[in-house]
Amino acid sequence: MTCGASINLRYPGSRYNFQLDMKPSGTSSSVSASSKLPDRVVIFDTTLRDGEQAPGCSMTTPEKLRLARKLEELGVDVMEAGFPIASEGDFEAVRAVSREVSTKVAALARATSKDIERAAEALANAKVPSRIHTFIATSDIHLRYKLKKSRQQVLDEAVAAVRLARKYVEDVEFSAEDGARTDPAYLIEVATAVVDAGASTVNIPDTVGYSVPDEFATIIRQVVEALNGRGIVSVHCHDDLGLSVANSLAAVQAGARQIECTINGIGERAGNCSLEEVVMAMKVRADRLPFTTGIRTESLYPTSQLLSSVIAFGPQPNKAIVGRNAFAHEAGIHQDGYLKERTTYEIIEPKTVGVPESKLVLGKHSGRHALKSRCEELGLVLSKEGLDEVYERFSVMADRKKGLLDEEIVALVREVAAKASPTQAA
Ligand code: KIV
Ligand code: ZN
Repeated sequence: MTCGASINLRYPGSRYNFQLDMKPSGTSSSVSASSKLPDRVVIFDTTLRDGEQAPGCSMTTPEKLRLARKLEELGVDVMEAGFPIASEGDFEAVRAVSREVSTKVAALARATSKDIERAAEALANAKVPSRIHTFIATSDIHLRYKLKKSRQQVLDEAVAAVRLARKYVEDVEFSAEDGARTDPAYLIEVATAVVDAGASTVNIPDTVGYSVPDEFATIIRQVVEALNGRGIVSVHCHDDLGLSVANSLAAVQAGARQIECTINGIGERAGNCSLEEVVMAMKVRADRLPFTTGIRTESLYPTSQLLSSVIAFGPQPNKAIVGRNAFAHEAGIHQDGYLKERTTYEIIEPKTVGVPESKLVLGKHSGRHALKSRCEELGLVLSKEGLDEVYERFSVMADRKKGLLDEEIVALVREVAAKASPTQAA
């Protein structure tokens, strides 16, 4: 069984001179912190659990292992490897991943003893101290229609679940499912009770992706204030309204210090908060979002690519950070500006996220400057007249096609050269 401190994060270099030590003493974690919260945000990856639950995303244990190694390379703080009670496969995957990686592994469990015992069994031989993540819904809509339980019953079960989980591991996370639609006063009551029972992380999910940023930030701020430094407040946002990243960032600004997210934003329905987007927003806009993570951003694209090769689909072409077109420029004005100075149209250098290079897609919106530059890259030197001729023919072709490949450009230049000087070209 695992042992040691549930969370022990230090931020000696923080500009707020912050130090946070959560000791696993007694039933609650003790925290010593200055009045400011740390600027380090814990990245909890749930690609292998929430992500894997989505249609087309199921993974075998060897596939989860490959991804787990990549997530470790990426530098996530916690990886949720599965829901052990859900199936034999999930149990095996959690067991295999937790045995192999040196990153903290979390296993999901409903707030029942059977689930928690199964999760503990799957984590029993973990290489490093692991986490049990237990949850129960707290919104009235879930209590009335799904659980058919009173608020008091749910509160009691949440507390009992955390107490039981703490018998197996030092690090217990509690999630108030549908937290964003829960009566805030009751949410605070539950959050306080589970921390008293020994949870070191309290997660507030926007399970159905219903919240909007200012509203979600208000909920999170209230929970953070009520806990007063006892435990880390986490968020888990779904993307049903396309707001999961915005909601997660608003929550961090309100005091949350763990974000649950997935590679490529995969997950139930419209998916979860995208890891690459939320991490890069904090990196690129550190002026407005002064928070740090342990993510090695150059591994973002390779991790996204690996995930796409394992599941049934890749990210949409225009997906931020990792989509095929995220660093492609086609409009002539953009290409011209980009060629003069990259930052005119690019806020991230592709290599920062592990993308080999920016692409100038030569299509119908491209200008002469971009065509000339691509020809030069391909080793084709053109006279002014040659470029005029090639550009004219290129424009006709580009109008019909989605974009021209390098081979097609080479063929075009050869044709024009052959026409201009038949003997030389032959
Ligand atoms: O969306 C959700 O509420 C969840 C919980 C189990 C954390 O996935
Ligand atoms: Zn979820």
